Amino acid sequence: MKTAVIGAGNMGSAIAVALRNADTDIRVSNPSQPKLDRIRSHRPGIHTTNSNREAADGADIIILAVKPWVMPAVIEELRDELQNARAIVSVAAGIEPADLAGLVGSDKPAYFYLIPNTAVAVGEGMTFYCTQGADEKIEKIITDMLSGTGKLIHVTPREMTAGMAVASCGMAYAMRYIRAAAQGGVELGLRPSTATAAVAQTLRGAAALLESRGSHPEEEIDRVTTPGGVTIKGLNAMEAAGFSAAVVAGIKASRP
Ligand SMILES: NC(=O)c1ccc[n+]([C@@H]2O[C@H](COP(=O)([O-])OP(=O)(O)OC[C@H]3O[C@@H](n4cnc5c(N)ncnc54)[C@H](OP(=O)(O)O)[C@@H]3O)[C@@H](O)[C@H]2O)c1
Repeated sequence: MKTAVIGAGNMGSAIAVALRNADTDIRVSNPSQPKLDRIRSHRPGIHTTNSNREAADGADIIILAVKPWVMPAVIEELRDELQNARAIVSVAAGIEPADLAGLVGSDKPAYFYLIPNTAVAVGEGMTFYCTQGADEKIEKIITDMLSGTGKLIHVTPREMTAGMAVASCGMAYAMRYIRAAAQGGVELGLRPSTATAAVAQTLRGAAALLESRGSHPEEEIDRVTTPGGVTIKGLNAMEAAGFSAAVVAGIKASRP
């Protein structure tokens, strides 16, 4: 199985390094060399090149990880290789499988449109994806290959925007919460590095509790809000300042 990754930026390099497929031949192309050198320092077995055509030549799976406005030129350059591939995986925001099939000019390959978030770089990503022309077999090959990047959820094209808002843009929103909570901790006397590490670990713990118990967030909140205690005072102060309304408004504003 030959896999090509076109573009070795944040997404392309994270995906290339995380790809799981013991018997795959992975090739990555990028115009500038330092990004390719960085990939090879993480995973020496990967073949890197400055030529997209060399990377894509004979590839069964082609992963397109360039900016959306670069995509038409890359597709034009690789039209033959793309038309002969078994699957085309694109992470370019806003280019849906039907658009991609139109640009490539063929319905033959299976199309995968992915919206990952930046945590794919540490194997803890949250990726939403939708497909066109993909059967169960090729979908399993692609999801197994990408399983090292974190979690993947298959949704309809209509749901991709919401997925992007909560998980991809959501990375920035989670970081803003971490920064704000740490600022509060510093005002109460913690060192900034201690406060930031503690808030990050608290979020990790909150996520682990929800996942392991399958509980609703409100159930977990009930466990820490003693009647008349300090947590409910803190929560009510946050809500009075518009916390939930601000988050919902932010998510809803994250539409292209
Ligand atoms: N970052 C996110 O959170 C995120 C989330 C979801 C989806 N995405 C999508 O992922 C895609 C890549 O984003 P990114 O953040 O990884 O961007 P990035 O870091 O700028 O990476 C893009 C890469 O494409 C390379 N490139 C430019 N022209 C090329 C060409 N003609 N052929 C091959 N490679 C070329 C660039 O190389 P040089 O720098 O050497 O020119 C760069 O390494 C975008 O379409 C974006 O919509 C990103």
